[in-house]
Amino acid sequence: MCGIVGILGRHQVAPILIEALKRLEYRGYDSAGIATLDDGHLVRRRSVGKLVNLSDLLVRDPVRGESGIGHTRWATHGRPNETNAHPHQAGSVAVVHNGIIENFRELRAELEATGTGFETETDTEIIAQLCNRELKAGRSPVEAARATLARLRGAFALCFLFDGERDLLIAARRGSPLAIGYGEGEMYVGSDALALGPMTHRICYLEEGDHAILTRTSAEIFDADGQRVERPIADIPQENFHAEKGRFRHFMAKEIHEQPSVIAQSLQRYLGSDLRLSEFEERLDFTACERIVLVACGTANYACHVAKYWFETLARMNVEIEIASEFRYREPPVGPETLGIFVSQSGETADTLAALRYVRAHGGRIVSVINVETSTIARESDVALPILAGPEIGVASTKAFTCQLLVLAMLAITAGRQRGKLDAAECTRLAEALSGVPGLIAQALALEEDVAETAKSVARARDVLFLGRGPMFPLALEGALKLKEISYIHAEGYASGELKHGPIALVDQEVPVVVLAPYGPLFEKSLSNMEEVIARSGEIVLLSDANGLAMSGGKAAHTLELPSVEALTGPIVYAIPLQLLAYHCAIQKGTDVDQPRNLAKSVTVE
Ligand code: F6R
Repeated sequence: MCGIVGILGRHQVAPILIEALKRLEYRGYDSAGIATLDDGHLVRRRSVGKLVNLSDLLVRDPVRGESGIGHTRWATHGRPNETNAHPHQAGSVAVVHNGIIENFRELRAELEATGTGFETETDTEIIAQLCNRELKAGRSPVEAARATLARLRGAFALCFLFDGERDLLIAARRGSPLAIGYGEGEMYVGSDALALGPMTHRICYLEEGDHAILTRTSAEIFDADGQRVERPIADIPQENFHAEKGRFRHFMAKEIHEQPSVIAQSLQRYLGSDLRLSEFEERLDFTACERIVLVACGTANYACHVAKYWFETLARMNVEIEIASEFRYREPPVGPETLGIFVSQSGETADTLAALRYVRAHGGRIVSVINVETSTIARESDVALPILAGPEIGVASTKAFTCQLLVLAMLAITAGRQRGKLDAAECTRLAEALSGVPGLIAQALALEEDVAETAKSVARARDVLFLGRGPMFPLALEGALKLKEISYIHAEGYASGELKHGPIALVDQEVPVVVLAPYGPLFEKSLSNMEEVIARSGEIVLLSDANGLAMSGGKAAHTLELPSVEALTGPIVYAIPLQLLAYHCAIQKGTDVDQPRNLAKSVTVE
């Protein structure tokens, strides 16, 4: 949340800052701002709302300068308005900040007691004011920044720009990610490598507690103890920087349609032509653990819920699902017998990372299922398994969810084989089923027109229920979350069997009920639940296959015919119509699909 960028360049920096912020806008978009050194002096331009407002402001009121910092905000402290927008300036220092300063009240009181006045409600202004106090006391910019950093508690990434210092940026990281980009006689700082992609592919990630002193030709990095350190500079592959919509109107649509190809890529890497999952076999040992704890937030957490069904049925293992923000504070018993599996698209989610560190501190083993391979969660894991979804820019997670499911399915098969619960023939059969998933997804995508038609009716509702049984229950939760997030329609997911224990009281002709029911052993039970809804005038949207739809007797108001699936492939395939339904409801309602209100892609604060 919040994107930050810093540039020591050789050209006018304002348009370059804006380009970089565009690539970071998925991290927050309630206000934006830049500061540059115009003729050596700090000048700022800030604007509330989307980045386009800041671009327009810069046309009306341009700034010059070749050094600058920029910020796109997701508000934590203080309303989204121009005053609270970053960069924050005090005297001769300007700061951009991602994260939260936990001791800001105490620091603010201390500064106010000595006569410092504050302009904003933000925690960030404290940083600028502290640093300015040090500068006024005669310290150099580097000393002042260091003294300031020493006073801060919390999780943050920061970039400082100083009046009169055309060849200096100071960057610091504690908790929130920060990358340094190396150019030709230029140097950059960004919340992620994506922001820096058009400028350089040579990227170095700061480690926890690091700060860096940058000039156009050098980057000196110091660790948490103040020792000078070298951090590796990686050449990031070109494809990691692609953040274009192509022929699609929204990133979300593009990412939904990319699923057959990204799933195929993941299958190629992990399953291989021999269908053997050799990489998983070599890197993981499920015989050594007694218990699996799957930890994640949001959509990634629902992927964990699905995986629990697979680990239990295929590997007969004890599996617990944890919401990271609860797990980290509950002090659950964890020991060397525990295998923690942490699932995160960004690999930077603050709660998931804290939960990972808890398991590590208590002797558990750490496997992560991540999309961003250079992320903190990946780096702090014993084994990091990339899901290979490519950059996901739409705030609502789509392709990352199905790629997470695929990797978790392959993990469950590996566990089943290693623990002697699956024989070679069964493993091959399951692997063959997975290798058919890209084709099944393509069939599901072909339903888009029907889904768009159904969405016309669903989008009129104020409340929507989603029902599913077995591994379709977590899909019901995910379908409801997707709809809420981007169309702002209130939606809840329930296990179908729970309907009559309360939620059925909500059902009337105004409440569409989306039933996820592939034909199988539990289908007739789902049918009974559907009848209960119909008896109360509820409008059913039934997602099933040819057999299921034939058995349903034409009672559903809307039907979507999906290909036949099995327990392992069903959740991946049924995710597609749910994503499309949310997308087309949002289109009907005219909401902002890629940047829904109040949300941000990468949740790096608690
Ligand atoms: C929903 C969504 C969020 C994320 C959650 C975890 O569409 O995107 O619920 O799934 O914030 O994020 P990661 O996977 O980056 O840890």
